[in-house]
Amino acid sequence: MTNRDEMIAGFRVLPGYFDREAQAQLLAHVRNVQAMTPFWRPTMPRTGKPLSVKMTNFGSLGWMTDKAGGYRYVTHHPETGAPWQVIPEPLMALWEAHADYPAVPEACLVNWYAPDSRMGMHVDWDEAATDAAVISVSLGDKARFRLGNHTRGGTTQSMILSSGDVVVLGGASRRCYHGVDRIYPGTSTLLDETSFPGGGRINLTLRRVTIPSAPKPC
Ligand code: SIN
Ligand code: FE2
Repeated sequence: MTNRDEMIAGFRVLPGYFDREAQAQLLAHVRNVQAMTPFWRPTMPRTGKPLSVKMTNFGSLGWMTDKAGGYRYVTHHPETGAPWQVIPEPLMALWEAHADYPAVPEACLVNWYAPDSRMGMHVDWDEAATDAAVISVSLGDKARFRLGNHTRGGTTQSMILSSGDVVVLGGASRRCYHGVDRIYPGTSTLLDETSFPGGGRINLTLRRVTIPSAPKPC
C-alpha cells in the first residue's frame, strides 16, 4: 500500500444511495425547518469574511462560525435563537448502517451551495470524537469534490458527486483535507425555485461531536 492509500483508507462513495423520492423527502425536511432555523450566511473567524455557502443545522449540536466566536458547535440558531430540529430519520438510518460507531450523530450541518459557491480545502477539526466517521449526502446540482491527504498540498483526487450520493470519511480518511471545487449549475431539478431561489446544491453532513460516555457495565 502506498502512503496515500493508507491516508485515504476508510474513504467511500456510495453512489445513488438515496433515490429521487428519498432525496425529495430529505429536501422537504430542510424546507420544513426554514421557519425556525433558516439558512444564514456564516462569517470567517477574525476576518468576518462571509462564506460562499449558506448554512443551517439539524441535531442537538450545530456547527457555526462567525467573526467574534470562530468555529464552534452551538445548540441554537445564531439568529433566531431556536433550537436545531431533530436529525431526519433517513439520515439516522444512514449513520446506523455506515458509521460503524457506537453512538448517534449529534450534528447535521446543511450547506447550501449557490451556483458560484465553493468550499476550500479543510479538515473537519472541531469535533472531539475524531474516531467517528463523517458522512455526507449530496442533493441537487452535481459538484466536483476534492480529496487530499493528511497535510495541506500534495496529491489530491477529484470526483463528481451527484444528487443522492453519499460520502463516508471514515478511518484514516477522517483526517484528510477535502473541499468542493465547484458545482455544475442546472444539472439537477431537485431544488425548487420557490424554496431554494437560484437552485444549486445542498450537502448534509453528519458528525459525532462529543466522545460518548462509557457504556454502563451490565
Ligand atoms: C464539507 O466538507 O463540509 C462539505 C463537503 C461537500 O459539500 O460535499
Ligand atoms: Fe468538511
